[in-house]
Amino acid sequence: MASIRVLVTGAAGQIAYSLLYPIAKGDVFGADQPIDLLLLDIPSMMPVLNGVVMELQDCALPLLSSIVATADEKEAFANIDVAILVGAMPRREGMERKDLLKANAKIFKVQGEALEKYAKKTCKIVVVGNPANTNCLIASKCAPSIPKENFTCLTRLDHNRAIAQITNRLGVQPHAAKNVIIWGNHSSTQYPDVRHAVVSVDGKELPVMQAIKDDAWLKGDFIKTIQQRGAAIIKARKLSSAMSASKAICDHMKDWWFGTKTGTYVSMGIISDGSYGIAKGIAYSFPVTIGADRNYSIVQGLQIDEFSRERMDATAKELLDEKDAAFSHLAE
Ligand SMILES: NC(=O)c1ccc[n+]([C@@H]2O[C@H](COP(=O)([O-])OP(=O)(O)OC[C@H]3O[C@@H](n4cnc5c(N)ncnc54)[C@H](O)[C@@H]3O)[C@@H](O)[C@H]2O)c1
Repeated sequence: MASIRVLVTGAAGQIAYSLLYPIAKGDVFGADQPIDLLLLDIPSMMPVLNGVVMELQDCALPLLSSIVATADEKEAFANIDVAILVGAMPRREGMERKDLLKANAKIFKVQGEALEKYAKKTCKIVVVGNPANTNCLIASKCAPSIPKENFTCLTRLDHNRAIAQITNRLGVQPHAAKNVIIWGNHSSTQYPDVRHAVVSVDGKELPVMQAIKDDAWLKGDFIKTIQQRGAAIIKARKLSSAMSASKAICDHMKDWWFGTKTGTYVSMGIISDGSYGIAKGIAYSFPVTIGADRNYSIVQGLQIDEFSRERMDATAKELLDEKDAAFSHLAE
């Protein structure tokens, strides 16, 4: 089988350190799919990145055909099939959100342009670096010859967190629950929605709302816990989520590559087509199913009650504001 070319940016960082091994081992693209890894980071991180390369070599992985470690976008994006864009400017103490947005808008403009110039037109892109949704939108705008459907951002971590909270509460295994939805932004305005989720308890499939029997928790602490989970991990670990982020990236890419199971949907940040009254053109997390042809579709026809509507619109509003702020920085 021919190798596929997979780019990971931010390759010297902590998420990449958890991510490169499962990718190179075959957990994401299949156990018989050879991989050429392209690793991008900034020039000052090259010594660290070389250490990561040494470790990858020492894993002696049969599927890992080649490794390129570079700070040069032209080399990193050349002819790639998949781009996992993790690298971003971290938020430093005292830095305002608008400064973070500005710094990252510039990075994702450059990377969008590199996708346009050097990547395959079929390249599949997942943006992880924050603010992930808006960075994804910028990259897509800067790569107009790559279909906008190929641009996604990561909300699978939030999705997995919601599954974990529900199944922990019920004392069942994580795979017993499915079809939770993360709507909107990968930020504290996201709306984790369990109104359409189901769970198997003692061999019987039930709506999650019925199994949990605690609407106050589902409308209150459950939502808050998911929205604030990233911050809680930073507080505890003094570092942001890396192992769970890496697992979520693997889940996102694997489902995109091989498709979702019949009757199961997953959350993905994608460029909105206007479904559910969400403004067209923002990168918004929706429930999707994915076919064996690697095309995804937004799950249609879900009933949206007033409680959900309010929250879905609030997170859309934040994304519209972020979009305006980011594009005005780019025009400066
Ligand atoms: N969407 C999500 O669910 C999610 C979850 C966790 C973390 N994140 C985000 O992922 C990003 C990475 O997290 P991390 O913990 O690995 O951070 P990290 O600081 O450990 O690593 C980031 C790496 O990116 C590199 N980098 C910076 N600018 C770059 C550029 N222009 N090109 C290539 N590389 C560049 C840095 O040098 C660093 O090595 C952060 O923005 C974080 O907020 C997103």
